Amino acid sequence: MDKIIVTGGAALKGRIPISGAKNACLTLMPAALLTDEPLTLTNAPRLADIHTMKELLSSLGCEIASLQEGRVLALGTQTISNHLAHYDIVRKMRASILVLGPLLAREGRGVVSLPGGCAIGARPVDLHLRGLEAMGAVLDLRDGYVDANAPGGLKGAVFEFPMVSVGATENLLMAATLAKGTTVLKNAAREPEIVDLARCLRAMGAQIEGEGTSTLTIEGVDRLGGATHRVVADRIELGTYMIAPAIAGGEVVFEGAERSLISSFADKLEAADVEVADVDGGLRVRRKNGAVRAVDFETEPFPGFPTDLQAQLMTLLTLAEGRSTVAEKIFENRFMHVPELIRMGAKIDIDGSTAVVDGVSELRGAPVMASDLRASASLVLAGLAAQGETIVNRVYHLDRGYERVEKKLSACGANIERVSE
Ligand code: EPZ
Repeated sequence: MDKIIVTGGAALKGRIPISGAKNACLTLMPAALLTDEPLTLTNAPRLADIHTMKELLSSLGCEIASLQEGRVLALGTQTISNHLAHYDIVRKMRASILVLGPLLAREGRGVVSLPGGCAIGARPVDLHLRGLEAMGAVLDLRDGYVDANAPGGLKGAVFEFPMVSVGATENLLMAATLAKGTTVLKNAAREPEIVDLARCLRAMGAQIEGEGTSTLTIEGVDRLGGATHRVVADRIELGTYMIAPAIAGGEVVFEGAERSLISSFADKLEAADVEVADVDGGLRVRRKNGAVRAVDFETEPFPGFPTDLQAQLMTLLTLAEGRSTVAEKIFENRFMHVPELIRMGAKIDIDGSTAVVDGVSELRGAPVMASDLRASASLVLAGLAAQGETIVNRVYHLDRGYERVEKKLSACGANIERVSE
């Protein structure tokens, strides 16, 4: 297993290109099941999760060509030869549930393994299933699978989400494009990845209104065609790397970055005395005057502060002047980075879904354990500022969501390397 070794103390200077969004690509790819024409995705990120989605879609009959070293994905689903998404693939990646809506919409049939929980929480899919039932699907749950049928095809419905769910919004949005009649999704998620999906579906011939707002209205059509779509920039990768110059010092320009994708996060960084400036072709980040100030924040659905950047900002705040309060409102167990940061010298107390961070003057390098994608990234960020050497084990978590993190950071002067054991 690979590990990453970071030696702290180097201020950063340089430019980091931002890749296409993992969480956009993971919902854009299943959209290829909705049509028998080619769907081409450009600016695709090269990540383990994308490979897993390719494996799943291929098992259903989708043909996928990786072009330009994996940056372009050409997907074609002439026919769906298999309607079952097997546990062995689904257990590797929860986003596999996103094939269920398209399978039902195109074929009236889909059998998908229930994804099960993961490190950050139980992560049920009940909202996906209730929404599809509202559209006429008949679901049978057995042996850890959901066996879904819509023999006469899905029907348009009005469905209000009891809580905001990104994945359930994506699943139902895709399903509704081919349903008979009108679907209205209320209390829908507003994330940029959903806006990106809606734009791609519209290019394929779908009739959608309201993306980016809490109400989506979809007029079902008889069939969808192919399209070519550029995957939106990854706001979570961007936010993660923006912490690097803030925690290590120096300044970095993030190419292709738009502030609108991360405005709530950028606002919090500025409140912590970190400058986020629009420059030619991207965003420049550097500390305003040397020290970082404590800030309070809580995670919320977009446009609120993203849960996927909670661990990263908390890591910065371990070295801020003063006390910060962090409330994780989306997932029930997303503080796994905390024990590892404490081992590096951070002062953090957890009380339920709230963490209180008292800034310290320095962190000390240590061997640390990665647990989930974003917690792993935070330990690398901590290592950039820590005295001495930090060894991050279980780097496969990182590779699920970050393209060669050591290359992007070492290009800006970080002392970081990947070691294969
Ligand atoms: C997506 O997960 C992202 N993953 C997550 O990113 C992200 O953290 C999350 O949205 C929130 O922004 C992908 O897009 C592939 P949810 P998703 O449905 O769709 C509960 C990363 O690091 N819920 O919005 O699974 C759920 O338990 C990953 O890239 C139900 O109760 O998130 C959670 O508490 C981690 N029932 C809350 O809603 C359901 O049917 C939000 O989950 C669905 C969700």
